[in-house]
Amino acid sequence: MLEDKKILVGVCGGIAAYKTADIVSRLKKKGAQVKVIMTASAREFVTPLTFQTLSQNYVATGLFSSPKNWEVEHISLARWADCVLIAPATANFIGKIWAGIADDLLTTTVMAVKAPVIMAPAMNTNMYSNELVQRNINALKNRGYQFVGPVEGRLACGETGEGKMEEPEKIVAFIHSTLNRDKDFDGRTVMITAGPTREALDPVRFLTNASSGRMGYSLAKAAAGRGARVVLISGPTQLEPPSGVELVRVESALEMYMAVMEYYPQCDVVLKAAAVSDYRPARKSGEKIKKSDDRLILEMERNPDILLELGKYKGNCILVGFAAESHNVEEYAREKIRKKNLDLIVANDITLEGAGFNTDTNVAAIIDSEGKAEYLPMMSKSELAHIILDKVAVLLKRQF
Ligand code: C5P
Repeated sequence: MLEDKKILVGVCGGIAAYKTADIVSRLKKKGAQVKVIMTASAREFVTPLTFQTLSQNYVATGLFSSPKNWEVEHISLARWADCVLIAPATANFIGKIWAGIADDLLTTTVMAVKAPVIMAPAMNTNMYSNELVQRNINALKNRGYQFVGPVEGRLACGETGEGKMEEPEKIVAFIHSTLNRDKDFDGRTVMITAGPTREALDPVRFLTNASSGRMGYSLAKAAAGRGARVVLISGPTQLEPPSGVELVRVESALEMYMAVMEYYPQCDVVLKAAAVSDYRPARKSGEKIKKSDDRLILEMERNPDILLELGKYKGNCILVGFAAESHNVEEYAREKIRKKNLDLIVANDITLEGAGFNTDTNVAAIIDSEGKAEYLPMMSKSELAHIILDKVAVLLKRQF
Protein backbone atom coordinates (compact mmCIF):
# COMPACT_ATOMS: atom_id res chain seq x y z
CA MET A 1 0.00 0.00 0.00
CA LEU A 2 0.98 3.59 -0.37
CA GLU A 3 -0.88 4.66 2.76
CA ASP A 4 0.23 8.16 3.74
CA LYS A 5 3.22 8.18 1.39
CA LYS A 6 3.80 11.68 0.07
CA ILE A 7 4.16 11.66 -3.68
CA LEU A 8 5.02 14.74 -5.67
CA VAL A 9 3.99 14.42 -9.31
CA GLY A 10 5.64 16.69 -11.87
CA VAL A 11 3.76 17.00 -15.15
CA CYS A 12 5.63 18.18 -18.26
CA GLY A 13 4.15 19.24 -21.57
CA GLY A 14 3.34 16.13 -23.57
CA ILE A 15 0.13 14.56 -24.74
CA ALA A 16 0.69 11.72 -22.23
CA ALA A 17 -0.15 14.31 -19.53
CA TYR A 18 -3.77 13.16 -19.76
CA LYS A 19 -2.66 9.71 -18.57
CA THR A 20 -0.94 11.27 -15.58
CA ALA A 21 -4.41 12.19 -14.35
CA ASP A 22 -5.11 8.46 -14.14
CA ILE A 23 -1.82 7.92 -12.26
CA VAL A 24 -2.79 10.56 -9.69
CA SER A 25 -6.20 8.99 -9.29
CA ARG A 26 -4.67 5.53 -8.74
CA LEU A 27 -2.17 6.88 -6.21
CA LYS A 28 -4.99 8.52 -4.24
CA LYS A 29 -6.99 5.28 -4.28
CA LYS A 30 -3.98 3.53 -2.75
CA GLY A 31 -3.98 6.00 0.12
CA ALA A 32 -1.10 8.25 -0.96
CA GLN A 33 -1.00 11.99 -0.45
CA VAL A 34 -0.36 13.62 -3.81
CA LYS A 35 0.77 17.12 -4.76
CA VAL A 36 1.19 18.15 -8.37
CA ILE A 37 3.48 20.63 -10.09
CA MET A 38 2.67 21.47 -13.71
CA THR A 39 5.02 23.15 -16.17
CA ALA A 40 3.67 25.90 -18.41
CA SER A 41 3.54 23.52 -21.40
CA ALA A 42 1.75 20.86 -19.36
CA ARG A 43 -1.02 23.40 -18.75
CA GLU A 44 -1.53 23.65 -22.51
CA PHE A 45 -2.57 19.97 -22.51
CA VAL A 46 -4.49 19.55 -19.25
CA THR A 47 -5.83 22.12 -16.81
CA PRO A 48 -4.61 22.44 -13.22
CA LEU A 49 -8.23 21.95 -12.17
CA THR A 50 -8.09 18.30 -13.33
CA PHE A 51 -5.11 17.59 -11.08
CA GLN A 52 -6.41 19.74 -8.25
CA THR A 53 -9.65 17.74 -8.20
CA LEU A 54 -7.94 14.35 -8.43
CA SER A 55 -5.16 15.10 -5.94
CA GLN A 56 -7.41 17.11 -3.62
CA ASN A 57 -4.54 19.54 -3.32
CA TYR A 58 -3.60 22.92 -4.69
CA VAL A 59 -1.59 22.53 -7.94
CA ALA A 60 1.70 24.43 -8.01
CA THR A 61 2.53 26.08 -11.29
CA GLY A 62 4.98 28.97 -11.12
CA LEU A 63 8.17 29.82 -9.33
CA PHE A 64 6.76 33.25 -8.55
CA SER A 65 3.05 32.54 -8.10
CA SER A 66 1.89 33.11 -4.54
CA PRO A 67 2.14 29.95 -2.51
CA LYS A 68 -0.57 29.06 -0.04
CA ASN A 69 1.74 29.62 2.92
CA TRP A 70 4.87 31.57 3.84
CA GLU A 71 7.33 28.81 2.86
CA VAL A 72 9.65 28.91 -0.14
CA GLU A 73 7.55 26.68 -2.32
CA HIS A 74 10.14 24.68 -4.25
CA ILE A 75 12.03 23.89 -1.06
CA SER A 76 8.95 22.97 0.94
CA LEU A 77 7.67 20.68 -1.83
CA ALA A 78 11.13 19.08 -2.17
CA ARG A 79 11.23 18.45 1.58
CA TRP A 80 7.67 17.19 1.72
CA ALA A 81 8.06 14.43 -0.90
CA ASP A 82 8.85 10.77 -0.07
CA CYS A 83 9.15 10.23 -3.80
CA VAL A 84 8.90 12.34 -6.94
CA LEU A 85 7.37 11.12 -10.19
CA ILE A 86 7.88 13.05 -13.41
CA ALA A 87 5.24 11.94 -15.89
CA PRO A 88 5.49 12.54 -18.73
CA ALA A 89 9.20 13.40 -18.61
CA THR A 90 9.96 15.23 -21.85
CA ALA A 91 13.31 15.39 -23.68
CA ASN A 92 13.49 19.04 -22.64
CA PHE A 93 12.97 18.31 -18.95
CA ILE A 94 15.46 15.41 -18.94
CA GLY A 95 18.03 17.59 -20.73
CA LYS A 96 17.56 20.43 -18.27
CA ILE A 97 18.05 18.22 -15.23
CA TRP A 98 21.12 16.65 -16.85
CA ALA A 99 22.57 20.11 -17.43
CA GLY A 100 21.65 21.36 -13.96
CA ILE A 101 19.25 24.01 -15.25
CA ALA A 102 16.61 25.15 -12.79
CA ASP A 103 14.49 27.74 -14.57
CA ASP A 104 10.96 26.93 -13.44
CA LEU A 105 9.20 25.51 -10.40
CA LEU A 106 9.50 21.86 -11.46
CA THR A 107 13.20 21.84 -12.37
CA THR A 108 14.05 23.94 -9.31
CA THR A 109 12.15 21.58 -7.02
CA VAL A 110 13.71 18.45 -8.53
CA MET A 111 17.15 19.98 -8.03
CA ALA A 112 16.41 20.37 -4.30
CA VAL A 113 14.92 16.91 -3.77
CA LYS A 114 16.69 14.25 -1.68
CA ALA A 115 13.96 11.60 -2.11
CA PRO A 116 14.00 9.13 -5.04
CA VAL A 117 13.08 10.70 -8.39
CA ILE A 118 11.35 8.49 -10.96
CA MET A 119 10.99 9.64 -14.55
CA ALA A 120 8.47 8.24 -17.01
CA PRO A 121 9.66 9.54 -20.38
CA ALA A 122 7.27 10.01 -23.29
CA MET A 123 8.24 11.39 -26.67
CA ASN A 124 8.45 10.72 -30.38
CA THR A 125 10.50 7.61 -31.12
CA ASN A 126 13.19 9.50 -33.07
CA MET A 127 13.54 11.97 -30.24
CA TYR A 128 13.86 9.13 -27.77
CA SER A 129 16.56 7.38 -29.76
CA ASN A 130 18.44 10.63 -30.36
CA GLU A 131 21.97 10.25 -29.03
CA LEU A 132 21.73 13.39 -26.91
CA VAL A 133 18.56 12.23 -25.19
CA GLN A 134 20.07 8.78 -24.60
CA ARG A 135 23.25 10.33 -23.23
CA ASN A 136 21.21 12.44 -20.81
CA ILE A 137 19.10 9.49 -19.67
CA ASN A 138 22.15 7.30 -19.10
CA ALA A 139 23.96 10.06 -17.21
CA LEU A 140 20.91 10.61 -14.98
CA LYS A 141 20.56 6.87 -14.37
CA ASN A 142 24.15 6.83 -13.22
CA ARG A 143 23.37 9.59 -10.76
CA GLY A 144 20.58 7.50 -9.24
CA TYR A 145 17.52 8.89 -11.08
CA GLN A 146 15.19 6.03 -11.89
CA PHE A 147 13.41 5.53 -15.19
CA VAL A 148 10.25 3.58 -15.93
CA GLY A 149 9.49 3.04 -19.62
CA PRO A 150 9.00 4.26 -22.26
CA VAL A 151 7.46 1.33 -24.10
CA GLU A 152 6.83 0.57 -27.74
CA GLY A 153 3.51 1.40 -29.28
CA ARG A 154 1.59 3.72 -31.56
CA LEU A 155 2.52 7.27 -30.66
CA ALA A 156 0.29 10.32 -30.81
CA CYS A 157 2.34 11.64 -33.75
CA GLY A 158 1.19 8.63 -35.79
CA GLU A 159 4.51 6.78 -35.73
CA THR A 160 5.03 3.43 -34.09
CA GLY A 161 8.06 2.73 -31.92
CA GLU A 162 9.62 3.20 -28.53
CA GLY A 163 8.57 6.42 -26.82
CA LYS A 164 5.11 5.76 -25.41
CA MET A 165 4.77 6.50 -21.70
CA GLU A 166 4.57 3.34 -19.58
CA GLU A 167 1.01 2.42 -18.56
CA PRO A 168 -0.29 4.15 -15.39
CA GLU A 169 -0.76 0.82 -13.60
CA LYS A 170 2.90 -0.13 -14.17
CA ILE A 171 4.11 3.32 -13.09
CA VAL A 172 2.15 3.06 -9.85
CA ALA A 173 3.62 -0.44 -9.26
CA PHE A 174 7.11 0.99 -9.86
CA ILE A 175 6.52 3.73 -7.27
CA HIS A 176 5.23 1.11 -4.88
CA SER A 177 8.34 -1.06 -5.18
CA THR A 178 10.67 1.96 -4.95
CA LEU A 179 9.07 3.13 -1.73
CA ASN A 180 8.68 -0.28 -0.19
CA ARG A 181 12.23 -1.32 -0.83
CA ASP A 182 13.13 1.44 1.60
CA LYS A 183 14.55 -0.56 4.50
CA ASP A 184 13.85 -4.13 3.49
CA PHE A 185 17.37 -5.25 4.49
CA ASP A 186 17.10 -3.92 8.05
CA GLY A 187 18.83 -6.29 10.47
CA ARG A 188 20.56 -8.23 7.66
CA THR A 189 24.28 -8.57 7.09
CA VAL A 190 25.26 -8.52 3.45
CA MET A 191 28.80 -9.33 2.33
CA ILE A 192 29.85 -8.04 -1.06
CA THR A 193 33.12 -8.73 -2.83
CA ALA A 194 34.20 -6.27 -5.48
CA GLY A 195 36.95 -5.38 -7.89
CA PRO A 196 39.87 -7.38 -9.23
CA THR A 197 42.56 -9.24 -7.33
CA ARG A 198 46.28 -8.77 -7.81
CA GLU A 199 48.59 -11.76 -7.93
CA ALA A 200 52.15 -10.71 -7.26
CA LEU A 201 55.04 -11.89 -9.44
CA ASP A 202 57.71 -9.93 -7.64
CA PRO A 203 57.74 -6.85 -5.36
CA VAL A 204 56.64 -4.52 -8.19
CA ARG A 205 54.74 -6.63 -10.71
CA PHE A 206 51.41 -8.38 -10.53
CA LEU A 207 48.78 -10.08 -12.69
CA THR A 208 45.30 -8.63 -12.58
CA ASN A 209 42.20 -7.94 -14.72
CA ALA A 210 40.13 -4.97 -15.90
CA SER A 211 37.41 -5.12 -13.23
CA SER A 212 36.66 -1.59 -11.97
CA GLY A 213 34.70 -2.68 -8.90
CA ARG A 214 31.67 -0.59 -9.94
CA MET A 215 29.12 -3.41 -9.82
CA GLY A 216 30.17 -4.42 -6.29
CA TYR A 217 30.31 -0.83 -5.04
CA SER A 218 26.85 -0.14 -6.51
CA LEU A 219 25.54 -3.21 -4.69
CA ALA A 220 27.15 -2.02 -1.45
CA LYS A 221 25.58 1.43 -1.76
CA ALA A 222 22.16 0.01 -2.61
CA ALA A 223 22.21 -2.57 0.22
CA ALA A 224 23.37 0.01 2.78
CA GLY A 225 20.62 2.37 1.59
CA ARG A 226 18.12 -0.42 2.16
CA GLY A 227 19.18 -0.84 5.78
CA ALA A 228 21.71 -3.70 5.59
CA ARG A 229 24.94 -3.92 7.51
CA VAL A 230 27.33 -4.15 4.58
CA VAL A 231 30.77 -5.74 4.64
CA LEU A 232 32.52 -4.77 1.41
CA ILE A 233 35.58 -6.88 0.67
CA SER A 234 37.34 -5.05 -2.09
CA GLY A 235 40.31 -5.67 -4.31
CA PRO A 236 42.25 -2.58 -5.44
CA THR A 237 39.93 -0.01 -7.07
CA GLN A 238 39.85 3.75 -7.65
CA LEU A 239 36.38 4.02 -6.16
CA GLU A 240 35.23 5.92 -3.12
CA PRO A 241 33.58 3.44 -0.72
CA PRO A 242 29.90 4.24 -0.08
CA SER A 243 29.29 5.76 3.34
CA GLY A 244 28.24 3.47 6.14
CA VAL A 245 29.81 0.26 4.80
CA GLU A 246 32.57 -1.73 6.52
CA LEU A 247 35.39 -1.80 4.00
CA VAL A 248 37.98 -4.57 4.08
CA ARG A 249 40.74 -3.99 1.55
CA VAL A 250 42.53 -6.98 0.09
CA GLU A 251 44.97 -7.52 -2.76
CA SER A 252 45.23 -11.18 -3.72
CA ALA A 253 42.66 -13.93 -4.13
CA LEU A 254 44.11 -15.67 -1.07
CA GLU A 255 43.62 -12.53 1.04
CA MET A 256 40.07 -12.22 -0.30
CA TYR A 257 39.45 -15.86 0.59
CA MET A 258 40.62 -15.32 4.19
CA ALA A 259 38.51 -12.16 4.62
CA VAL A 260 35.40 -13.80 3.13
CA MET A 261 35.75 -16.83 5.39
CA GLU A 262 36.17 -14.62 8.44
CA TYR A 263 32.92 -12.72 7.84
CA TYR A 264 30.88 -15.54 6.29
CA PRO A 265 29.39 -16.90 9.54
CA GLN A 266 27.83 -13.47 10.25
CA CYS A 267 26.18 -13.12 6.84
CA ASP A 268 22.62 -13.52 5.59
CA VAL A 269 23.60 -12.74 2.00
CA VAL A 270 26.82 -12.94 -0.03
CA LEU A 271 27.07 -11.15 -3.36
CA LYS A 272 30.28 -12.15 -5.11
CA ALA A 273 30.82 -9.46 -7.70
CA ALA A 274 34.62 -9.60 -7.52
CA ALA A 275 36.60 -10.78 -10.52
CA VAL A 276 38.89 -13.16 -8.67
CA SER A 277 42.03 -14.44 -10.37
CA ASP A 278 41.74 -18.16 -10.92
CA TYR A 279 45.53 -18.58 -10.85
CA ARG A 280 48.50 -17.03 -9.09
CA PRO A 281 52.20 -17.31 -9.87
CA ALA A 282 53.48 -20.49 -8.22
CA ARG A 283 56.40 -18.55 -6.80
CA LYS A 284 56.64 -14.89 -5.87
CA SER A 285 60.15 -13.68 -6.37
CA GLY A 286 61.51 -11.80 -3.37
CA GLU A 287 63.45 -9.55 -5.73
CA LYS A 288 62.53 -7.78 -8.95
CA ILE A 289 62.77 -10.32 -11.77
CA LYS A 290 65.63 -9.36 -14.11
CA LYS A 291 65.18 -9.56 -17.84
CA SER A 292 67.29 -11.97 -19.83
CA ASP A 293 67.47 -12.93 -23.48
CA ASP A 294 65.56 -16.16 -22.84
CA ARG A 295 61.83 -16.60 -22.77
CA LEU A 296 60.24 -16.21 -19.38
CA ILE A 297 57.97 -19.07 -18.47
CA LEU A 298 55.63 -18.52 -15.58
CA GLU A 299 54.25 -21.38 -13.64
CA MET A 300 50.82 -20.69 -12.17
CA GLU A 301 48.87 -22.49 -9.51
CA ARG A 302 45.16 -22.53 -8.79
CA ASN A 303 43.62 -20.07 -6.38
CA PRO A 304 40.81 -21.36 -4.24
CA ASP A 305 37.39 -20.85 -5.82
CA ILE A 306 35.94 -18.81 -2.97
CA LEU A 307 32.35 -19.10 -4.10
CA LEU A 308 32.62 -22.86 -4.56
CA GLU A 309 33.92 -23.14 -1.01
CA LEU A 310 31.05 -20.99 0.32
CA GLY A 311 28.55 -23.16 -1.53
CA LYS A 312 29.73 -26.19 0.45
CA TYR A 313 28.75 -24.58 3.77
CA LYS A 314 25.78 -22.64 2.51
CA GLY A 315 23.30 -23.07 5.37
CA ASN A 316 20.64 -20.37 5.20
CA CYS A 317 22.91 -17.84 3.53
CA ILE A 318 21.76 -16.54 0.13
CA LEU A 319 24.61 -16.87 -2.34
CA VAL A 320 24.75 -14.80 -5.50
CA GLY A 321 27.47 -15.29 -8.11
CA PHE A 322 28.43 -13.26 -11.16
CA ALA A 323 29.40 -14.72 -14.48
CA ALA A 324 31.22 -12.58 -17.02
CA GLU A 325 31.46 -14.59 -20.19
CA SER A 326 32.24 -13.96 -23.81
CA HIS A 327 30.23 -16.89 -25.20
CA ASN A 328 27.58 -19.45 -24.19
CA VAL A 329 26.65 -17.11 -21.35
CA GLU A 330 23.46 -18.82 -20.20
CA GLU A 331 24.83 -22.33 -20.45
CA TYR A 332 27.91 -21.53 -18.33
CA ALA A 333 25.79 -19.61 -15.85
CA ARG A 334 23.44 -22.56 -15.31
CA GLU A 335 26.41 -24.86 -14.86
CA LYS A 336 27.93 -22.49 -12.25
CA ILE A 337 24.67 -22.28 -10.29
CA ARG A 338 24.67 -26.06 -9.93
CA LYS A 339 28.37 -26.52 -9.33
CA LYS A 340 28.72 -23.71 -6.80
CA ASN A 341 25.34 -24.29 -5.10
CA LEU A 342 24.09 -20.74 -5.71
CA ASP A 343 20.68 -19.13 -5.32
CA LEU A 344 21.13 -16.67 -8.17
CA ILE A 345 23.67 -15.86 -10.80
CA VAL A 346 23.99 -12.58 -12.63
CA ALA A 347 25.34 -13.35 -16.07
CA ASN A 348 26.61 -10.92 -18.60
CA ASP A 349 28.16 -11.15 -22.02
CA ILE A 350 31.25 -8.97 -21.83
CA THR A 351 31.40 -8.69 -25.63
CA LEU A 352 28.19 -6.59 -25.69
CA GLU A 353 28.45 -2.83 -25.75
CA GLY A 354 27.45 -1.39 -22.37
CA ALA A 355 28.12 -4.65 -20.50
CA GLY A 356 30.79 -5.99 -18.21
CA PHE A 357 34.03 -4.49 -16.93
CA ASN A 358 34.83 -0.83 -16.69
CA THR A 359 31.48 0.58 -17.83
CA ASP A 360 28.81 2.39 -15.83
CA THR A 361 26.14 0.22 -17.37
CA ASN A 362 25.50 -3.47 -17.66
CA VAL A 363 23.40 -5.81 -19.76
CA ALA A 364 22.63 -8.83 -17.63
CA ALA A 365 20.44 -11.86 -17.20
CA ILE A 366 19.53 -13.08 -13.73
CA ILE A 367 19.21 -16.85 -13.49
CA ASP A 368 17.71 -18.60 -10.49
CA SER A 369 18.45 -22.00 -9.00
CA GLU A 370 15.69 -23.56 -11.09
CA GLY A 371 17.46 -22.32 -14.20
CA LYS A 372 14.86 -19.67 -15.03
CA ALA A 373 16.51 -16.69 -16.76
CA GLU A 374 15.29 -13.10 -16.78
CA TYR A 375 16.94 -10.95 -19.43
CA LEU A 376 17.25 -7.30 -18.46
CA PRO A 377 17.81 -4.35 -20.81
CA MET A 378 20.90 -2.16 -20.58
CA MET A 379 20.79 -0.19 -17.35
CA SER A 380 23.08 1.53 -14.88
CA LYS A 381 24.91 -0.70 -12.42
CA SER A 382 23.08 1.10 -9.64
CA GLU A 383 19.69 0.17 -11.12
CA LEU A 384 20.83 -3.41 -11.67
CA ALA A 385 22.02 -3.53 -8.05
CA HIS A 386 18.48 -2.74 -6.84
CA ILE A 387 16.94 -5.37 -9.12
CA ILE A 388 19.37 -7.99 -7.78
CA LEU A 389 18.53 -6.94 -4.21
CA ASP A 390 14.78 -7.11 -5.00
CA LYS A 391 15.27 -10.77 -5.97
CA VAL A 392 17.39 -11.49 -2.89
CA ALA A 393 14.74 -9.84 -0.68
CA VAL A 394 12.12 -12.25 -2.07
CA LEU A 395 14.41 -15.23 -1.31
CA LEU A 396 15.05 -13.98 2.23
CA LYS A 397 11.32 -13.63 2.86
CA ARG A 398 10.74 -17.19 1.66
CA GLN A 399 13.01 -18.52 4.40
CA PHE A 400 10.42 -17.70 7.06
O1 C5P B 1 33.84 -19.62 -12.45
P1 C5P B 1 33.85 -18.13 -12.57
O2 C5P B 1 35.17 -17.52 -12.15
O3 C5P B 1 33.43 -17.61 -13.90
O4 C5P B 1 32.74 -17.66 -11.53
C1 C5P B 1 32.52 -16.33 -11.27
C2 C5P B 1 31.95 -16.19 -9.88
O5 C5P B 1 32.75 -16.93 -8.96
C3 C5P B 1 32.02 -14.76 -9.40
O6 C5P B 1 30.91 -14.55 -8.56
C4 C5P B 1 33.34 -14.69 -8.66
O7 C5P B 1 33.34 -13.68 -7.67
C5 C5P B 1 33.45 -16.08 -8.07
N1 C5P B 1 34.82 -16.59 -7.96
C6 C5P B 1 35.37 -16.82 -6.71
N2 C5P B 1 36.64 -17.33 -6.59
C7 C5P B 1 37.39 -17.58 -7.68
C8 C5P B 1 36.84 -17.33 -8.96
C9 C5P B 1 35.56 -16.83 -9.05
O8 C5P B 1 34.69 -16.59 -5.71
N3 C5P B 1 38.61 -18.03 -7.52
